[in-house]
Amino acid sequence: MITGHPAPHELLPDGVVFHDIRGDVSLDVLLPPERDVAASFSERRRREYATVRHCARRGLSDLGLVNTAIVNDESGCPIWGESVVGSMTHCRGYRAAVVGPSALIAGIGIDAEVAEELPRGVLARISSVAEQDRVASLAHERADVPWDRVLFCVKESIFKAWYPLTRTGLGFLDVEVFLEADTSGQIRFLREVPADLPEAWKVRWTVNDGIIIAAAWMTLTPSVECASTTRGIH
Ligand SMILES: CC(C)(COP(=O)(O)OP(=O)(O)OC[C@H]1O[C@@H](n2cnc3c(N)ncnc32)[C@H](O)[C@@H]1OP(=O)(O)O)[C@@H](O)C(=O)NCCC(=O)NCCS
Repeated sequence: MITGHPAPHELLPDGVVFHDIRGDVSLDVLLPPERDVAASFSERRRREYATVRHCARRGLSDLGLVNTAIVNDESGCPIWGESVVGSMTHCRGYRAAVVGPSALIAGIGIDAEVAEELPRGVLARISSVAEQDRVASLAHERADVPWDRVLFCVKESIFKAWYPLTRTGLGFLDVEVFLEADTSGQIRFLREVPADLPEAWKVRWTVNDGIIIAAAWMTLTPSVECASTTRGIH
C-alpha cells in the first residue's frame, strides 16, 4: 500500500473534470455510433470501450456539454468537439477519462497502468541512461513505487497529449522525463517541437490502490488580464 499520494483528480488543473471506475458498467451506455464500432470487438474490449466512454460522458455532462458519441479517428485518437480536450485510458480493472474546455487547456493526456515493475528489458528500450539513473536513485529512496512503470506511464500520457495537436508520432526516446518523488516531473523534448505547440507542459502522476495514473497537459498562454498586470509592474 503506497501512502501519501494524491487522489487522481487532485493532480489535474482547475477546470478539468476526471472520472474513473474500477470494473465495468453495462454495455447499454454505448451510443449507436459507438455500438457500431464496438460490434467487432472482443467482449473484454467492448466493456472497457463502453466504461471509459461512460466516464468521459460524465465529465462532459459536468461541463454542461451534450452527451455525444465519442468515436476514434483512424489513428485511434478520440474525436472530441471543438470546445473540448480530453483523454481516456484503461488497464486491468480500471478505466478513467478526463475532459476540459479547450479555452483553458491546449491539450491533455492521461494514462493508467497496473503498479507493477516493467518486464525485464523494457526500461532500457523506453528511456535514456539519465532516466534510468534517476529511476535507480528514486528506487533507492522509495522502494514501494515501481518507478520504471511510472516513467512509462508518464511518457504514454505525454504522447496522448502530443498526438491530437501534432498528428505526428513521438518515440519514447524523443522525450526525457526527470521524475520527482513529489509526484511531478520535468519534461525535455529531444526532437524538434512544432512552433505552435504551447511550451507550458506539466506532468503529474500518482499511485493509488495498485494503479499508476499519469497526466500531461499544456495550459494556454496567460490571459490578457495577467499579461497586462505584468506590463503594469514593469
Ligand atoms: C496509443 C497508446 C498511447 C495507448 O496507450 P495504452 O496504454 O496502450 O492504452 P490506454 O488504455 O491507456 O489508452 C487507450 C486509449 O488511448 C486513446 N488513444 C489511442 N490512440 C491515441 C492517440 N493517437 N492520441 C491520443 N489518444 C489516443 C483512445 O481513447 C484509447 O481508448 P479507446 O480505444 O477505448 O478509445 C499506446 O498504445 C501507444 O501507441 N504508445 C506508443 C507511443 C508512445 O506512447 N510514445 C511515448 C512517447 S514519450
